Amino acid sequence: MLPGPPAAHPTLARPASQGPMSTPSSSPKIALIGASGFIGLRTTEILTQRADLTLIPLVRSPASLAVLARQALDWRIASFVEVAPLAAALKGCDICIHAAIGDAAQIVHMAKVTYDACAAAGVRRLVWLSSASVFGQNCPTGTDDSTPLHDRHPLIYNNAKVHAERALQKCARDRRVELVMLRPGVVFGPRSRWITDPAADLRADRAGWLNHGKGICNTIYVDNLVEAMRLAAITPGVAGETFIVGDAETVTWREFLLPIAQHLGLDETAFTDLPVPAFAPERASRFTAFTLTPAYARAGQAVPYRLKRIVKGVLKAWPTPSSGAGAWVLRSSAKPASLTQELSLLQQCPWKLPHAHATARLGYQPPVTFAEGMKRSLAWLDFVTDARPA
Ligand SMILES: NC(=O)c1ccc[n+]([C@@H]2O[C@H](COP(=O)([O-])OP(=O)(O)OC[C@H]3O[C@@H](n4cnc5c(N)ncnc54)[C@H](OP(=O)(O)O)[C@@H]3O)[C@@H](O)[C@H]2O)c1
Repeated sequence: MLPGPPAAHPTLARPASQGPMSTPSSSPKIALIGASGFIGLRTTEILTQRADLTLIPLVRSPASLAVLARQALDWRIASFVEVAPLAAALKGCDICIHAAIGDAAQIVHMAKVTYDACAAAGVRRLVWLSSASVFGQNCPTGTDDSTPLHDRHPLIYNNAKVHAERALQKCARDRRVELVMLRPGVVFGPRSRWITDPAADLRADRAGWLNHGKGICNTIYVDNLVEAMRLAAITPGVAGETFIVGDAETVTWREFLLPIAQHLGLDETAFTDLPVPAFAPERASRFTAFTLTPAYARAGQAVPYRLKRIVKGVLKAWPTPSSGAGAWVLRSSAKPASLTQELSLLQQCPWKLPHAHATARLGYQPPVTFAEGMKRSLAWLDFVTDARPA
């Protein structure tokens, strides 16, 4: 059994008894922070097949190794939110790719911590997965990599991504580490919520879209993003640059959602055409800010790991109280079609974000077409659906 993470988060590494990794010593060593996530897992699958680099997957806890530990990988376990243990895990790596996420405060905190840890460990370059959402989910026509950012977006996540980019740019002024940032849009593929969520809504007869899905969906198939990440890691002379990355095709939400419906034996009548809903801007939680204080960290160290997981599980499963008349609905009643604020904004997007800068500077050419990416995603959907008990 793997040991649970001790309170002080020292770095754990794959036991040497499992044998050395067989990769050429001349190849760059690339650490991948957040290797257990949707993008991280696919990145690991693809980049560990390459002979011209060595990938070191980094995860934050033994539980995060559930999928990765099935292969003989040189994984490491370390806190992503503290400089010293992260620097220890990055020791010996040339490049670091960051593909982890957290809540808004953690996203910004991780940016500074990762830069400092890279500098302390002697990592040459940090590739930071930012997001096209720095421009808002509903980016204005004409947006490109040179468009100035603002932090007045209605979604906290978008503002956090802006703040993280700014924090990194400030850190990188000391030139201890080369900084390259990628801004993908809707990253889809096997294991993606962008596939499972619409499928679940369609199956539950509660799928909806705005304006018949005519808005632009700035897709990037996950393998295309991995290719962009690889290029951002190894291309010389691009320090300090940011890159929008996407699929080659301009895709509407209709073109994204309809194949999922058709795959399930449905058609466009499965989508209710919804009016644009009104939402209040999200507000940052005070608890999130508290989680970054030293007092919270000390309290966290005193609580056993298993107890923390149980409490988190209970909180996650706790139903969100609803207000108004909608609270008194029989459990068995079907939910009407609706869109989250994120989806509502995304589906109003009028603009295909251009990745001409990534093509010019990184040589980025998406290797997988949108149609092929969707085909592979739907094949995976069949696989997980068929694997589910009836
Ligand atoms: N998916 C998209 O459509 C999309 C689009 C644009 C940008 N991005 C960016 O791409 C990155 C990866 O996204 P993803 O979709 O792969 O996310 P994901 O599947 O949720 O995975 C995120 C990774 O972050 C780790 N993580 C989660 N909460 C954490 C916390 N509080 N502290 C430390 N680590 C934590 C997870 O570890 P565990 O496995 O241990 O939970 C996992 O390894 C993020 O920066 C995201 O903003 C994603």
